[in-house]
Amino acid sequence: MNQRTPIIAGNWKMNNTAKEGVALVNAIKPLVADAKCEVVVCVPAIDIPAVSEALAGSNIALGAQNVHFAEKGAYTGEISAAMLKEYGVKYVIIGHSERRQYFGETDETVNKRTLAALAAGLVPIVCIGETLEERESGKTEEVLDRQITEGLKGIDDISRIVIAYEPVWAIGTGRTATCEQANETIGYIRKKCAEVFCPKCAEKVRIQYGGSMNAGNCKQLMAMPEIDGGLIGGASLKAADFAAIVGYDKGGMQGMKLPKELL
Ligand code: 13P
Repeated sequence: MNQRTPIIAGNWKMNNTAKEGVALVNAIKPLVADAKCEVVVCVPAIDIPAVSEALAGSNIALGAQNVHFAEKGAYTGEISAAMLKEYGVKYVIIGHSERRQYFGETDETVNKRTLAALAAGLVPIVCIGETLEERESGKTEEVLDRQITEGLKGIDDISRIVIAYEPVWAIGTGRTATCEQANETIGYIRKKCAEVFCPKCAEKVRIQYGGSMNAGNCKQLMAMPEIDGGLIGGASLKAADFAAIVGYDKGGMQGMKLPKELL
């Protein structure tokens, strides 16, 4: 058994208005109150104030989906670490493949955002992962190497971040990586981190799997020795599904006593 505390985080992406978000976390709270793992919801920036208030006193931590690298200034449309921290945000997703794909995010900007988040006392959840084309042409390790060496450059203690391995071909497609594939690739990421950073930090860094993880497959994925958690998209938008993933050790949905309205 390793010493790493599992971490299950929901990535709501561009879903839920503030009101909807509050209703969702209010439904999730009692279902995950006895969670053994760390629980996080990463919500749209504008939902943060309301969701932060709704989460007060619960065991669910608040996360954002992006952060800018400058402290402040002329960066229209961006959000600073101080703005997030004022509302009790603890985690921030950086370099999600959707941001790399649609918003020009690169390993260089991922690196700048990650270093700024760390300096401000936020915990970055840095996303890495290969596309289908890259996997099929045997480039997975090359892509991960680049994302690790460039994207995480200059981090003094890698165990202060969370890494999310999200194979792009498994995101929102219903096509999950097999447990063995996910475990093997995450093992590779850990090995690379040991090489580039330090073996002790690599042993401590938590690496999540993300990509079509759900109530049905979470138990098997979480049973793999290298997988320390999940970054959940679609299934984090329904209280019962998300809670079942948080309770992966109880066998998902079967292990839960759900209120009627959530069935
Ligand atoms: P899905 O769980 O919807 O496949 O999304 C995964 C993801 O991108 C989480 O960041």
